[in-house]
Amino acid sequence: MTTPDLQKRPEQVSSMFDRVSKHYDRTNDILTAGIAPYWRSQTRHAVRARPGDRVLDIAAGTGTMSKQFADAGADVVALDFSQGMIDEGRRRHGDDPRIDFVQGDAMALPFDDASFDAVTISFGLRNVQKPQTAIDEMLRVLRPGGRAVICEFSTVTSAPVRAFYTAYMKGIMPAVVRAVSSDADAYAYLNESIEAWPPQPVLAGWLRTAGFERVKYRNLSFGMVALHKGFTPLDESSDETDQ
Ligand SMILES: C[S@@+](CC[C@H](N)C(=O)[O-])C[C@H]1O[C@@H](n2cnc3c(N)ncnc32)[C@H](O)[C@@H]1O
Repeated sequence: MTTPDLQKRPEQVSSMFDRVSKHYDRTNDILTAGIAPYWRSQTRHAVRARPGDRVLDIAAGTGTMSKQFADAGADVVALDFSQGMIDEGRRRHGDDPRIDFVQGDAMALPFDDASFDAVTISFGLRNVQKPQTAIDEMLRVLRPGGRAVICEFSTVTSAPVRAFYTAYMKGIMPAVVRAVSSDADAYAYLNESIEAWPPQPVLAGWLRTAGFERVKYRNLSFGMVALHKGFTPLDESSDETDQ
């Protein structure tokens, strides 16, 4: 059983998520101690999926966010490279005709240019081997004036909260993981990958490098999670403006 290191080799990351797929959502709920629904609702607001929108949820996992966009009336493509996560997603949401689960790589999206109104990725970009390539791909598949939203663990900005958070991640979380998950190594990787992830302004810079405009970010729970948002440049001929 191989657990990814920070090289994030796609076959290792994908097989790790295959292994944890069955209990992924339950373990997440326990580890985030009830805060995750708040992070998810803020992500849903930032994406602003509307009836008729075509939304791409990259690294969708079991489709937890995809379902929220579908419930808002959008047609959603839930893309992931782990067959295990897709199978679990189809088991949970397969009866929703608005969600189409597709296997594919965030670094080489199997979609035409300008084919989505909104593109989003939640707790996924940190696991992608070349995040800049994935962000470039997000820009490519968005229509002019389309929006991208990235929800990801980030850098805690308050010193006291950081002390508590570090103690939780290094002390309490490993013990909880041993009790509730069969794959403690996967959650050691979670901890390491969060620590190695760059702070908020760096990710904002990656979005600008790709060509996104009006890039902003917002800290949730003191920066435990950050929401980044950007827009693709508008066509001269287009009169569509999103917020
Ligand atoms: C922590 S889970 C997040 C799942 C879901 N977005 C959520 O909010 O619960 C990360 C997901 O990213 C997927 N993933 C990682 N790298 C990927 C890549 N290069 N292409 C597609 N999916 C990827 C994994 O298979 C896994 O399902």
